[in-house]
Amino acid sequence: MTKIGIASDHAGFELKKELKEYLGGKGYEVVDFGTDSEASVDYPDFAHPLAAAVEYNSVDFGVAICGTGNGICMTANKHQGVRGALCWQPEIAALAKQHNDANVIALPARFISADMAKRILEAYIDAKFEGGRHQRRIDKIAL
Ligand code: RB5
Repeated sequence: MTKIGIASDHAGFELKKELKEYLGGKGYEVVDFGTDSEASVDYPDFAHPLAAAVEYNSVDFGVAICGTGNGICMTANKHQGVRGALCWQPEIAALAKQHNDANVIALPARFISADMAKRILEAYIDAKFEGGRHQRRIDKIAL
């Protein structure tokens, strides 16, 4: 069964709750790395545990949510082996998988609707990594 890690800060908490229910309803196992309320928190405290789970394969991929998606994506991308992609429309999410083999999808909770977030996730899940020249490029990312 596909195991999906999910994490947010306070700005992404409501969207995380909705996506957890949505993904759970689709039969995915969802591992929640917090936060657990709308009380103000620091996104790295939740991005790092999620990114570590992706890096060490205890989840298949991660969903990271903050207000803009940027802070949580920047933090996740500090982990070697994590390829986090900020996605605000389904086409970008599909390309993030097809070309970049993204393993963390970052969502900007303050700029997209819950319906759009679900469409973005579906596009990412349905897409397949194309390999070939894209694999060669991915292999050049790490320092
Ligand atoms: C929180 O106000 C906001 O700064 C955070 O959710 C995120 O957008 C940071 O990148």
